[in-house]
Amino acid sequence: MDSNKRPDSMERITTPALAEAFIAEQVEAIKAQVGDKKVLLALSGGVDSSVVAALLIKAIGKQLTCVHVNHGLLRKGEPEQVVEVFKNQMDANLIYVDAVDRFLDKLAGVDDPETKRKIIGKEFIDVFAEEAGKLEGIEFLAQGTIYPDILESDGVKAHHNVGGLPEDLQFELVEPVKLLYKDEVRVVGKALGLPDNMVYRQPFPGPGLGVRCTGAITRDRLEALRESDAILRDEFAKNGLEGKVWQYFTVVPDYKSTGIKDGKRTFEWPVVIRAVNSIDATSASIEEIPYSLLAVITDRILSEVQGVNRVLYDLSPKPVATIEWE
Ligand code: XMP
Repeated sequence: MDSNKRPDSMERITTPALAEAFIAEQVEAIKAQVGDKKVLLALSGGVDSSVVAALLIKAIGKQLTCVHVNHGLLRKGEPEQVVEVFKNQMDANLIYVDAVDRFLDKLAGVDDPETKRKIIGKEFIDVFAEEAGKLEGIEFLAQGTIYPDILESDGVKAHHNVGGLPEDLQFELVEPVKLLYKDEVRVVGKALGLPDNMVYRQPFPGPGLGVRCTGAITRDRLEALRESDAILRDEFAKNGLEGKVWQYFTVVPDYKSTGIKDGKRTFEWPVVIRAVNSIDATSASIEEIPYSLLAVITDRILSEVQGVNRVLYDLSPKPVATIEWE
């Protein structure tokens, strides 16, 4: 039997009871596969890797080592939440790597979008491989591969950078959610006790805020992006749009325009709000945000975010525009 093919008889996991049954079955399967050996996992804090981490912690506890690489392109509060949930609450073996300077130094002055993606991907593998190289006795690598990844690619998580680990760091794979669809992973995550904002998280690209801080990334513009994104998420949550709108974020392009603040002329960045609905990201339509909410978000961004004097709403569907700006 092809272990990468979902059996036709497999029931869709839609309820807590079905999730509990899946968890019990996977805990046994993980124990049988791993025995008393050690497992390594790159834990981004996204739904898939978080659910895999929680499953493995339940199955093998401290035999799992999670590595969380903070590349400086995560959203506000995300690295802290990974530490809080997995280290403090679940008592996992978690290695937190502060690689912010390393990534931002490598990205300094680089404005080509694909080059930026390549640098982020390569640097991630290098940092992860370095951490893996420091550990002894690891025999397994856990991955948050899900069924659409298998259907869409050759079985290696499309955007999962650890797929490209060097030869001497090739381990046997542990992929407990590889036959699940995203909605099932969420049901399992909820049953494992993960927080809602982790389980129902909107899609977030591997290169993170890097593709939303267009052109050459600078620390001050990245900060404006992170803060404006946090305000947008906060207002969407307060107004019942979290979990309803498929993907929403801000973009800070690398150009400036004139404005006026405290009677003085300014020359600052615009913040672009993007909020789209989609089924599978191949096409996307624009969410009709109430004007009054857009006004509140605009006021907050203009008064709370440094270096910004204009807020725009992106009305372009995909196609013709892509969801991300780079
Ligand atoms: P686009 O911009 O192509 O995005 O319309 C479609 C979906 O894919 C996400 N996206 C990425 N995800 N690495 C990822 O892991 C990437 O390089 C990347 N680029 C885009 C995007 O957020 C949207 O959900």
